[in-house]
Amino acid sequence: MVLHEAAAALDWVMDKSLVLGYTKIGPAVRRNWWPHDPVPGALIGRHVLVTGASGGLGLATARGLARLGAAVHLTGRNASRLDDARSMLLDEQPLAELTVHVADISDLAATAEFARQFSTDVPRLHAVVHNAGVMPPKRTVTPEGHELTLATHVLGPHVLTYGLRKALAGGRVVLVTSGGAYGQRLDAADPEYAEGDYSGVTAYARTKRMQLVLTELWARDLEPDGIRVHSMHPGWADTPGVTDSLPRFAAVTGPLLRDADSGADTAVWLTATDDAIGTGGFWHDRRRRPTHYAPVGIETPEQVGQFWDFVLDATEQPAPGA
Ligand SMILES: NC(=O)c1ccc[n+]([C@@H]2O[C@H](COP(=O)([O-])OP(=O)(O)OC[C@H]3O[C@@H](n4cnc5c(N)ncnc54)[C@H](OP(=O)(O)O)[C@@H]3O)[C@@H](O)[C@H]2O)c1
Repeated sequence: MVLHEAAAALDWVMDKSLVLGYTKIGPAVRRNWWPHDPVPGALIGRHVLVTGASGGLGLATARGLARLGAAVHLTGRNASRLDDARSMLLDEQPLAELTVHVADISDLAATAEFARQFSTDVPRLHAVVHNAGVMPPKRTVTPEGHELTLATHVLGPHVLTYGLRKALAGGRVVLVTSGGAYGQRLDAADPEYAEGDYSGVTAYARTKRMQLVLTELWARDLEPDGIRVHSMHPGWADTPGVTDSLPRFAAVTGPLLRDADSGADTAVWLTATDDAIGTGGFWHDRRRRPTHYAPVGIETPEQVGQFWDFVLDATEQPAPGA
């Protein structure tokens, strides 16, 4: 996957400019050099679980995976929204194998139980795509006592990944993170965002930074099981999440936003490609990206260790049936 020098330079400039790279201009240009599509039918006979698949990018990811033949499991918090999503996909692809599961990823105990039951029903899982995301307007704490973006983007995905570890052997994990992570450092001292003035946008971006760190930690930890872990960011895509949580941003960027399928493209590609892409990477538009653009703010090994200890401690679950 060696890019011609001129293409690599143009790609880099587009990435740094944000508008050229993150909007629909990004894939329109980059598809001229990005890696080939997964072969048709690449996922036939494989199960893939997509969290937050009732709308937006999760629904688009489910669509892309189903087109490649996967049996797709869609999760979300609302049964009727999931049923609507399934019906919409079946209208488009009548032979698609789609199963919906009501599962709130921010509820750690319920997620552990969901993973246990799911592994019994689906003992071999090709991949999980951690897509579910939120940007609450004010600090919200789950009934288990965790700040909501942390529970949704970090702790819940950790519980789900490790609950599915056996089923995922030889498979893949994809985290849908955000370019917003570039604007935040890892805050291992206050992961629950209990100190300072809370901002939903900041909480979101902080936990997206944590997802990048988690990608590298999971990649190392899960390598012995042959599980490959990657994260990606979708750029700026036209989804209910963007129009509801960032209406002013959506109004300004509206005509330039990518469609959801284009935002989901790299998550689908990472799940299905046969290319030798290793593990532990951060991707956008089918190309590996740096996790930091400047040395300032790179997390120290001590901060990473402190964060990992926090995640392990916060996600400790009672043994099933205990
Ligand atoms: N759109 C963009 O431009 C953009 C940019 C950067 C990153 N992202 C990332 O892409 C992902 C999807 O974003 P989106 O724009 O598609 O958002 P969206 O339109 O708001 O969709 C979010 C999805 O997550 C589900 N969800 C939320 N909380 C959940 C929970 N606790 N458990 C299970 N499902 C939950 C929602 O379903 P229910 O409400 O029905 O549960 C919905 O299906 C997020 O991780 C976001 O951070 C998006």
